[in-house]
Amino acid sequence: MITYLVTGGAGFIGSNFIEYMFGKYKDIKIINMDKLTYAGNLENLKSVENNKNYIFAQIDICNKEAVQGIFDKYDIDIVVNFAAESHVDRSIKEPEIFVKTNILGTVNLLNISKNAWIEGDHFKEGKKFLQVSTDEVYGSLGATGFFTETTPLDPHSPYSSSKTGADLMVKAYSDTYKMPINITRCSNNYGPYQFPEKLIPLMINNCLNKKDLPVYGDGMNIRDWLYVEDHCKAIDMVINNGKIGEVYNIGGHNERPNIYIIKTIIEYINKNIDSEVDERIIKYVEDRLGHDKRYGIDPGKIKDELGWEPDTTFEVGIVKTIKWYLDNKAWMDNITSGEYQKYYKNMYE
Ligand code: NAD
Ligand code: TYD
Repeated sequence: MITYLVTGGAGFIGSNFIEYMFGKYKDIKIINMDKLTYAGNLENLKSVENNKNYIFAQIDICNKEAVQGIFDKYDIDIVVNFAAESHVDRSIKEPEIFVKTNILGTVNLLNISKNAWIEGDHFKEGKKFLQVSTDEVYGSLGATGFFTETTPLDPHSPYSSSKTGADLMVKAYSDTYKMPINITRCSNNYGPYQFPEKLIPLMINNCLNKKDLPVYGDGMNIRDWLYVEDHCKAIDMVINNGKIGEVYNIGGHNERPNIYIIKTIIEYINKNIDSEVDERIIKYVEDRLGHDKRYGIDPGKIKDELGWEPDTTFEVGIVKTIKWYLDNKAWMDNITSGEYQKYYKNMYE
């Protein structure tokens, strides 16, 4: 039985990944190591919490003793490192925690994994450290071109710079110790369980509550959107078949300007849920500092080498996503009470 250590498994992508893996494989064990910051939510894992092969440990990835304790207790085969501070706007206000969790936390995991897996001058069979990274490490594109795996790293925000620092440390463990690693760099994800500080769930929630929709700048910044399950599928493929030491970009050629996404959400809600919601609730606000103009992934390598293809088009994925938030109103209400209110006020009012 393969034992996975999934860090940040109570967050958006991590919880989708754990559901995906237990849906696909019966004979795996998953240890979910999560600090449960504001972004971590055990409600996301209701469907797996009674699985006898699922173990939750509330641990900070920066905590040496606690992480070591997990490696002493379990024979970990695969580390999938999702744990991170993940929101650009928060990183602009408070960069330090991004350096701590995203860089130092990753180094702590690398070090403990290396020591557990190394045997003489080589690593034990079947071990791999997969770093879940982001296209934001490549910086920003002009009107044309795509990020490939050889595009120079040129991050701009404290978030993307901290993710780049982590990627370089993962590369250092590969180059120096020959540690078996992969790095995946995915474009923007959307889907169930995403914290409503990010564009799509924030806009859905505000539409449902008839609150202004805050659009940064002119709304023409472009992101490349991928349904979260397609990201999970790609990570699983890289774990199983990715060439050791390699980086894989993940994206489905779904580039849209922010204002297009926002208008799509308004239109769906107007037609299907509440005809009083229309474009009058769009509110153009001050632009994000250092706002990256455009992201666009070239997924050629993962398609050619591993045969990955996304299954969900944007048109299907966005409707599934809006319906999920409608059907899970209690989830959203829980998340948007408490700390979120303060965050929202400070950010937008
Ligand atoms: P998220 O913010 O929803 O979840 C992060 C999770 O990590 C939370 O459960 C949180 O409690 C946990 N965490 C934070 N600090 C921790 C610490 N010190 N120790 C242990 N756990 C900690 O983030 P997400 O959107 O699910 O992103 C997951 C990963 O994927 C991140 O590494 C992010 O950089 C990367 N990524 C995200 C996207 C995206 O569009 N969301 C795209 C590409 C890559
Ligand atoms: P976000 O979901 O924060 O992801 P990222 O910055 O990591 O790409 O933002 C996606 C885009 O939406 C980005 O260009 C910023 C923009 N945006 C808004 O216009 N208004 C908002 O309230 C938010 C949260 C984001």
